[in-house]
Amino acid sequence: MANITFSNPSYRDKTVYAVAGSHTETILSIAREYKVPIEFNCGDGECGTCVIKVTSLDEKGRMSSFLTDKEKLVLKQVGKLTAEDIEKAGVSDIPPQWRLACQFIVRDEDILVEY
Ligand code: FES
Repeated sequence: MANITFSNPSYRDKTVYAVAGSHTETILSIAREYKVPIEFNCGDGECGTCVIKVTSLDEKGRMSSFLTDKEKLVLKQVGKLTAEDIEKAGVSDIPPQWRLACQFIVRDEDILVEY
């Protein structure tokens, strides 16, 4: 079970409980299910509209999470991913702070999602 707290300066924080067992549900799909208004356009990792900042609220820290080449490219294009971030994700399994909500698959961890 994952606890996801969505936060935006224009809205009240909202914490939802997501079943992360299937490893197929993205943050964007959970946000839409709970009527959290994360902006998005393509829904397919192409435009960069759905950039979110992810912070661990868990004592064990962030879990690693796969970044596709497409997500890396778009995050680099919008200035949210550096070569150092890619190195950390690939070599040390340290996930980057910025992700695309339409690509980030929820894991079994408690996180803060700023949008
Ligand atoms: Fe376009 Fe996520 S909605 S990259």
